[in-house]
Amino acid sequence: METLSLIPTQQKDGRFGIFGGQYIPEVLMPAVQELEETYRQTRNDAEFHEIYTHLLKTYVGRPTPLTFAKRLTEELGGARIYLKREDLTHTGAHKINNALGQALLAKRMGKTRLVAETGAGQHGVATATVAALLDMECVVYMGSVDIARQQPNVQRMKLLGAEVRAVESGTRTLKDAVNEAIRDWVTNVRTTHYLLGSALGPHPYPTIVRDFQAVIGREAHAQILEAEGRLPDACIACVGGGSNAIGLFSAFVDDEEVALIGVEAGGEGIASGKHAARFADPARGKPGVLHGTFTYLLQDEDGQVLPTHSISAGLDYPAVGPEHAYLREIGRAEYTSVTDAEALQAFQTLARTEGILPALESSHALAEAIRRAPSLPRESILLVNLSGRGDKDLETVLKALKGRGA
Ligand SMILES: Cc1ncc(COP(=O)(O)O)c(C=O)c1O
Repeated sequence: METLSLIPTQQKDGRFGIFGGQYIPEVLMPAVQELEETYRQTRNDAEFHEIYTHLLKTYVGRPTPLTFAKRLTEELGGARIYLKREDLTHTGAHKINNALGQALLAKRMGKTRLVAETGAGQHGVATATVAALLDMECVVYMGSVDIARQQPNVQRMKLLGAEVRAVESGTRTLKDAVNEAIRDWVTNVRTTHYLLGSALGPHPYPTIVRDFQAVIGREAHAQILEAEGRLPDACIACVGGGSNAIGLFSAFVDDEEVALIGVEAGGEGIASGKHAARFADPARGKPGVLHGTFTYLLQDEDGQVLPTHSISAGLDYPAVGPEHAYLREIGRAEYTSVTDAEALQAFQTLARTEGILPALESSHALAEAIRRAPSLPRESILLVNLSGRGDKDLETVLKALKGRGA
């Protein structure tokens, strides 16, 4: 990608403040424009919405519940903690909301083939699932490191009829899988839709993905009002590329009294350099261009993208969605980081107190709530997005616990 000419286009639309835009090779411009035009037509199309909403209800299993974490709240002795249960969707993570929406868009564009990248495998599984549902060919790119640590999802994708292509370049994680998916898209653009899995990439992707994930926030907003008669003091979500977080935040962004808190992967600690915390490490996280968008990314002094580390494959990515960069710049959202060890601890705590195994990604959001709740008054409310379930992470968790002598 780096050797192809880059053209910043979209000056008005597709920007979040100075972030976002379209920094892509010319060969992709027609595809991105086609997607933008299709989305513009579809956005307010009653028939599209009817089909999409019907499938969300009858196939995905929406609305997902909002669960009051009673035992966890009692144990922490402070703020009341609520969990938005994206782990209860079909395929077990929020990724399905976006995959379904984009696959329907792809059908409208007459595409017959979907390509996707995946880190934790949840987006790959979601894409393979909707490809089966809508009778489309599906190829999923995945770094070989992620293939090793997310085996159950690799097997699921294959059973669903997708081809999983191992990526051996770079750090063999999500960033490298995105590179390969883009390469495939460039080559097969006439027949293929690139089903991007997070609120990343060139315009219109960050907007499309946010809009398809906004259902999380809309439901949570109504559900917390019903349960508590008021809005939460804070909404907390983990931030890989940022799709589950932006989906939740979007419904609360105009409610100034609600704090929006994004949680990045602190890995082995910010000082170690082994993390994926684009905001928490000002020495390494600076604005730049990656995968078609201008945003915060981890880079060295020469602008070379730095390797990342996280116990959770889904947060192990060097850039963050451009809308998050903007929300942080204007001070509307706050971003923190949680280490691997803290996430692991949160995973165990939720399992023990509530009988729920959260995804390691979601465990980061939960760890931030666990950190904050004890010092908050008992009438405070923290709403945590449980973006996915932890079955896929069992091997990683058991190995890590063994390593820690647990
Ligand atoms: C369960 C789960 N949560 C969160 C994420 C992070 O992605 P995003 O920041 O786009 O929500 C992933 C990514 O794979 C995931 O599988």
